[in-house]
Amino acid sequence: MAELSSRLHLLGIEGMSRKDILPYLDLAENYVLLSRSRSSPREALRGRTVVNLFFEDSTRTRTSFELAGKRLGADVINMTVATSSVNKGETLLDTAATLNAMRCDLLVVRHGQSGAPALLAQKVDAHVVNAGDGMHEHPTQALLDALTIKRHLNRLNGLTVAICGDVGHSRVARSNIHLLTAMGSQIRLVGPPTLVPSVMEELGNVMVIHDMDEGVRGADIVMMLRMQKERMESGLVPSMREYFRFYGLDRRRLRLAKENALVMHPGPMNRGVEIASDVADSAQSVIQEQVEMGVAIRMAVLDHLARSEHTP
Ligand code: NCD
Repeated sequence: MAELSSRLHLLGIEGMSRKDILPYLDLAENYVLLSRSRSSPREALRGRTVVNLFFEDSTRTRTSFELAGKRLGADVINMTVATSSVNKGETLLDTAATLNAMRCDLLVVRHGQSGAPALLAQKVDAHVVNAGDGMHEHPTQALLDALTIKRHLNRLNGLTVAICGDVGHSRVARSNIHLLTAMGSQIRLVGPPTLVPSVMEELGNVMVIHDMDEGVRGADIVMMLRMQKERMESGLVPSMREYFRFYGLDRRRLRLAKENALVMHPGPMNRGVEIASDVADSAQSVIQEQVEMGVAIRMAVLDHLARSEHTP
């Protein structure tokens, strides 16, 4: 989290402490209950405008920010690249000027380039939320993952978390590494050397393991990642079928983890590539719950940033 142009933004988890993270989780707990009882406080963001500016595809993240804004009473506008003048060559900074002129209060940005939300944060008057920038960070995903874990296991410290698969390309993995290590858990990064290079150990406090059985053994949480074919040069893995054989999460492998270990995946899933369908749909899977927590976390983030204006 950084404070640029005197506004509070959520640009990444890196640098956030336990104390910075917990208010989001506590506020979100409330929003889970309120959303379930269909009694969201629609006055919280009444009169505010949330703009979802998405330069990359998204289903869950964009719709959950939209729902979150609406449940808090904000006006929510979705700008996607296909329909905006970004296609006509407008630069990121011209887009920022336009958003300023429209008096947008909260700007949610997804962009293929790492650092794009941070750049916008310097140029717009709005609070900026990073909804995923390149291979850099995806802070709200890590927060919603943490909320899901906390609700099941009652803690975020002392856990062994195996983050498996295409770690190198994953902003979800990076944000989760920062968050879960800040909370005091152990991270294993598991996958083939082409996708999980050993230098990732330099991220600090993480162990790189290239053998999937060993990586999953005894873990409290098995977090699977999508094969990000769009960010991949060819040849990083032999074939998808081969990949599943060596690195896919199937029932046999899951039995190596702790009994009742949680199975997580940020979505979208490639069933039969990184995760077997029956595991994704099993009682140990909290994948659908992650989606529900996503709405609550995004409500908490929008609310927390908007409220920060009133506290000096
Ligand atoms: C992730 C993303 O976009 O980084 N998805 C998501 O936000 N739910 C992960 C992915 O695309 O694999």
